[in-house]
Amino acid sequence: MLEVTVCVGSACHLKGSAEVIRILKDLIAAYDLGDQVTLAGSFCQGHCTDGVVVRVGEELITGVSRDQVYDLFQKKILGRCRL
Ligand code: FES
Repeated sequence: MLEVTVCVGSACHLKGSAEVIRILKDLIAAYDLGDQVTLAGSFCQGHCTDGVVVRVGEELITGVSRDQVYDLFQKKILGRCRL
């Protein structure tokens, strides 16, 4: 199972983490990856000035805006799943 967490600390929240989660959730559902990917919120990851912070497995990705979510999904998540 690939774990994806999105920081929902206050700084990341202000930068749109709820929207990032919503888009990721929709993409995971659209590609039917619910049995391969878990999506959760996380507490502050210590990179508040570089939010939104997303962790995919062990990899920490910073500065994720809503416009970058699809790209992140394709590069970091989809490639690690069975289709
Ligand atoms: S609030 Fe997201 S890294 Fe601190």
